[in-house]
Amino acid sequence: MSRFGRRASALAALIVFLCALGVGVVTAGNRSRDERALRKTRSAPSQTIEQKVSALLGKMTLAEKLNQLTLLSDGQINDSEAAKPVGGVFSLTDPDKINHFQHVAVEQSRLHIPILFAFDTIHGYRTIFPIPLGTASSFDPNVASDDHRIGAMETAAVGIKQIYSPMVDVSHEPRWGRSSEGGGEDPYLGSVMAAARVKAAQGSDYSAPDKVVTSVKHFAAYGQPEGGRDYNTTDMSEARLRNLYLPPFKAAIDAGADTAMCSFNAINGVPGCANSHTENDILKKEWGFDGFVESDYTAVDELLRHGVAADGCDAARAALNAGTDMEMVSTHYRDCGAQLVKSGAVSMSRINDAVRRILRIKFRAGLFDNPYVDPSKANDVQLLPASRDTERKDAARSMVLLKNDNGTLPIDTSKSVAVIGPLGDDQHDMLGPWWGQGRDSDAVSVFDGIKAQDANTTFTEGCKMVDADLYDPANECPSVDTAAVTAAAQGADQVVLALGETRGQSGEAEVRSDLKLPGHEQDIIDAVKQTGKPFTVVLFNGRPLDLTDVAAKSDAILEAWFPGVEAGNSIADVLFGKVDPGGKLPVSFPRSVGQVPIYYNHEPTGRPCDVGSKYNSRYRDILSCQPLYPFGFGLSYTTFKLSNLQLSSHTLSAKGGSITASVDVTNTGSRQGDEVAQLYIHDPVASISQPVRRLRGFERVTLDPGQTTTVSWKLDRSDVGFYDNSGNFVVEPGRIDVFAGDSSADDGQTDSFTVQ
Ligand code: BGC
Repeated sequence: MSRFGRRASALAALIVFLCALGVGVVTAGNRSRDERALRKTRSAPSQTIEQKVSALLGKMTLAEKLNQLTLLSDGQINDSEAAKPVGGVFSLTDPDKINHFQHVAVEQSRLHIPILFAFDTIHGYRTIFPIPLGTASSFDPNVASDDHRIGAMETAAVGIKQIYSPMVDVSHEPRWGRSSEGGGEDPYLGSVMAAARVKAAQGSDYSAPDKVVTSVKHFAAYGQPEGGRDYNTTDMSEARLRNLYLPPFKAAIDAGADTAMCSFNAINGVPGCANSHTENDILKKEWGFDGFVESDYTAVDELLRHGVAADGCDAARAALNAGTDMEMVSTHYRDCGAQLVKSGAVSMSRINDAVRRILRIKFRAGLFDNPYVDPSKANDVQLLPASRDTERKDAARSMVLLKNDNGTLPIDTSKSVAVIGPLGDDQHDMLGPWWGQGRDSDAVSVFDGIKAQDANTTFTEGCKMVDADLYDPANECPSVDTAAVTAAAQGADQVVLALGETRGQSGEAEVRSDLKLPGHEQDIIDAVKQTGKPFTVVLFNGRPLDLTDVAAKSDAILEAWFPGVEAGNSIADVLFGKVDPGGKLPVSFPRSVGQVPIYYNHEPTGRPCDVGSKYNSRYRDILSCQPLYPFGFGLSYTTFKLSNLQLSSHTLSAKGGSITASVDVTNTGSRQGDEVAQLYIHDPVASISQPVRRLRGFERVTLDPGQTTTVSWKLDRSDVGFYDNSGNFVVEPGRIDVFAGDSSADDGQTDSFTVQ
């Protein structure tokens, strides 16, 4: 059964079990609207669209309006629903069916309103790119752009005009399987990647045949569930919400994202889709968002289980009034809308506002002018050779070299190679979670990729990893054939171990309480270590892992994430040194699961971990205060030096102006390579404690041996300020420390300036 088929039957069960409890109480606050001007500029040319929307809205009955607020899955749509017509349909990918239902909607409905078809193109549609956590490791927004440019083209070609992406949930929770879908732990890096994705998918006009409208998700703070358990509650201060979790959403909206998806989780007791503070106050009023918000899958219905709605109608009331415009899968809006309007629980103007937002996006998407797709052309742009080439290049740029002792890498192609490990001849898992319409048969395995560049290569599985829906230790490398592993290693000059998770171990609802390699994979490392052969561990995973035991034994470690369709080729490009591994970690890797959450941009404590006597903030049984690998860390086949940090001024006005920070980056090694220069700041004295480091700039450069380049960044009030606990952005006078380095842990270059 497909993922969606399974969920449709799960929904039926869910509805049977839901019972009434609780009352939805949502507060609305007033926020400053100083950034709305930006949005006004954007909507100015759309005057005619607004007039068209008004004219259409004026003709609609309440029932027709409520149908526009309804979003059905591929398993729910049929001719009768299409003829109503419903507002949107997601996960239908057959262009003939899409065309068929669109014809029904446009030709058989009274007002001829087209359906907006949507899909989760998270890291590719057919040409599957690295998982977004991998893309973030590239520290190169062009990689995110390529992913969403090609993804949008392939998606739009089948008649789908909305993607449920980018997923921009900042997360400090490696146990959470959805870490894989986002940009990591840093709001600045996440913002850059989010904006790049939105711009690439939408272009300047998403009515273009190769563009789609993006839906930024999951609004908000879904990445910080208690205990790492998916859908679980989140409790956080307003300052933390705004400083750490909201920036990538804001960046996506500013980049033009015209739709958004509210999240399953509650923040401070208020579920995302019933949260008037985040949806009405922040997203719509403060940020001036004029698109629509759809709920996540049955999230309106789940307000009952959250205990904030008494029944389905009450859930519809809470969600509609909080600002959720469209309801996914459950149909309480449609079923209860008339009654809610009649009783005054929801105003007619709120219904009109929600419909207006949806119609506005359909007009902007060009659906009224071009509702149909030509199914005979849908395949013309899928998995083009040029798209595969781009993916191969970008996957290699997304890999992070974590360890490389004794020049183990790069491998000389004249050496024989033994590929060992359960993921070594695997196509399926290379695509990662949310594989879109990617096909296993398109993917290049590690063995095939390496063999193509070095014919003298063997493969030994060692143990089996079976990608299964439910946890069963029998599926996770239950025991290792050590004799075969040892013999294979002994027979080769170099060993490449392909280890890590299956794609199903990450993603939605895939939470792990243990972050070590699954099952007995570590035994493979131990066996190869015994042979004395130089070996590299190539890792596949959708979250930071506990690599303490891996790092203790391995000569080299290459973090490949789930690299996508060209996996084996891009890994071979890096292992053989055709491409320098220049990626950096977008998340901290803990020394053990007990260190979680551990992230570079934490606030200081009064008794820091590494200071003073025994009465400090240390784990008794972990000697280091640091993660195993910090945010921003990654090696290269060459070496670099950062020097000469310069600030254009040592004072910055709190009211305006900027300072330029620059640093020289020199390739001090003997081969061409990539470095990511990173700029961090710290505000040592503020009204509320500020993170010990905050990334405010990065640049990936490629340098020849001996070459130096100067990288510079502008810092202004938006960089040095922060949100306080009343939700106000404040810029306080005082010293700001500046650090330029090659990771968040690098103290190399420092200076400071004063905000006056
Ligand atoms: C996920 C969303 C996704 C939606 C539609 C939900 O379960 O949380 O990220 O967009 O399904 O597939």
